[in-house]
Amino acid sequence: MKVRISDDALALACGADAVADAFAKAGAEVERTSSWGMHWLEPLVDIDGIGFGPVGLADVRSILDGAADALCIGKIADHPFIARQQRLTFARAGRTRALSLDDYAATGGWQGLTKAREIGPAATIEAILASGLRGRGGAGFPAGIKWRTVADAKADQKYIVCNADEGDSGTFADRMAMEGDPFQLIEGMAIAGLAVGATKGYVYIRSEYPHAIAKMEAAARACAHLIAPFDVEIRVGAGAYVCGEETSLLNSLEGKRGEVRAKPPLPALEGLFGKPTVVNNVLTLTSVPWIMTQGAEAYAAYGMGRSRGTMPIQIAGNVRHGGLFETAFGITLGELVNEIGGGTASGRPVRAVQVGGPLGAYHPPSQFDTPFDYEAFTGIDGLIGHGGLVVFDDSVDMAKQARFAMEFCAAESCGKCTPCRLGSTRGLETLDRVIAGDNAADNLALVEDLCDTMKFGSLCALGGFTPYPVLSAITHFPEDFQGRKTS
Ligand SMILES: Cc1cc2nc3c(=O)[nH]c(=O)nc-3n(C[C@H](O)[C@H](O)[C@H](O)COP(=O)(O)O)c2cc1C
Ligand code: SF4
Repeated sequence: MKVRISDDALALACGADAVADAFAKAGAEVERTSSWGMHWLEPLVDIDGIGFGPVGLADVRSILDGAADALCIGKIADHPFIARQQRLTFARAGRTRALSLDDYAATGGWQGLTKAREIGPAATIEAILASGLRGRGGAGFPAGIKWRTVADAKADQKYIVCNADEGDSGTFADRMAMEGDPFQLIEGMAIAGLAVGATKGYVYIRSEYPHAIAKMEAAARACAHLIAPFDVEIRVGAGAYVCGEETSLLNSLEGKRGEVRAKPPLPALEGLFGKPTVVNNVLTLTSVPWIMTQGAEAYAAYGMGRSRGTMPIQIAGNVRHGGLFETAFGITLGELVNEIGGGTASGRPVRAVQVGGPLGAYHPPSQFDTPFDYEAFTGIDGLIGHGGLVVFDDSVDMAKQARFAMEFCAAESCGKCTPCRLGSTRGLETLDRVIAGDNAADNLALVEDLCDTMKFGSLCALGGFTPYPVLSAITHFPEDFQGRKTS
């Protein structure tokens, strides 16, 4: 009997290693795979496509004896959480062994690179443009335009830098992509390198991702001969949120302090070591092999408006069914939270969802009909960012969440510009006064004024977007602030 168990970090945190050992000791053949992304079911055990989860040590014997009906979820691929998805980027999730070159090749691996080699750089860039692929790191900038800018730049050396800093709260898709399907990311980088004329690539991974770092290092070694003359090196960041900002990341890669650079010059023209550089998020680059293999039109057929393709949405926080849900843009926030996420884990009513990481807005259920789309979220003063959802029940104190946004900004500010460096600290102090009921109305007005300055005066989105969580909390949940007014 072959038993398949994920070796993804989340499964490991839930005890997957011990469960795998117990199956091996009981005589089963154990294979370690990537994760399906149904986090509430980890450790998920897959026997001939039938799933059992979450499995504890005490369940191993009963599963082997065929007496674990209570844990059985039926055919994993047919589970509603999986069957409702449109998995393009995560097509291999749960199905293959991360570091198996055989598994990768058998599931269409390297076909995108082969195609790019056949059609050449210009047609490759055209394909990425036509697919409508936008950067998945947060800003949603069209990948093809960035690539074309780098391709058109004249330089003796160009670089592909993969942004794997993944600092947003509630996000884990980059980590899962690197741990579960590392060759796909490397293939995407090699295609980008071919398209723009770069032979060197770096993956910048946060130090908190040791499993992803190990997988990426092993994968880069294993496939070096297949991607040559392109070469990929893994670099580990020390763990600063602002080092996810692309210019700060480039400084960090160069061994400098992770401080934001003023733009222009754009990294596409003067990036790493002053050379033209593509900086793309993990999910942007992992989308590329599918586009090259299946065609730009096929990719663009998914989605809505200017948001084409699919988005691996990460559902987290106080939610029953947390995990990775890849789907075409256009699904509503309410469907994601209530139908797919199953509401809160606590069983209490959902009160707010923060979308897009710590700089994203808090959305009340009255906005749940908003489709997951860059422009639709901009229209409600929010952002989809890297696709992370953090769900809160009705016990949340939104004034404290607003305070947390300012505190986070103050802690993570690189210090380069005044609205963010000083504004966040003053904002924190002022919100503390609001929370203490000290002249709350006047102090709240001061916070709103300060947010305006931060929004329009900050050099980068850390200071510039911190007003989103703060103002959305004040706008949508005024009772949490007003209740504290003493004047
Ligand atoms: C404070 C801050 C943090 C960021 N963190 C990340 C991150 O962790 N990962 C990421 O890909 N982009 C992050 N970004 C966005 C990057 O600056 C950049 O837009 C992105 O890497 C470009 O790749 P893409 O076009 O593929 O999205 C961050 C931006 C800011 C302002
Ligand atoms: S907004 Fe904050 S993080 Fe961004 S450059 Fe200014 S001080 Fe640095």
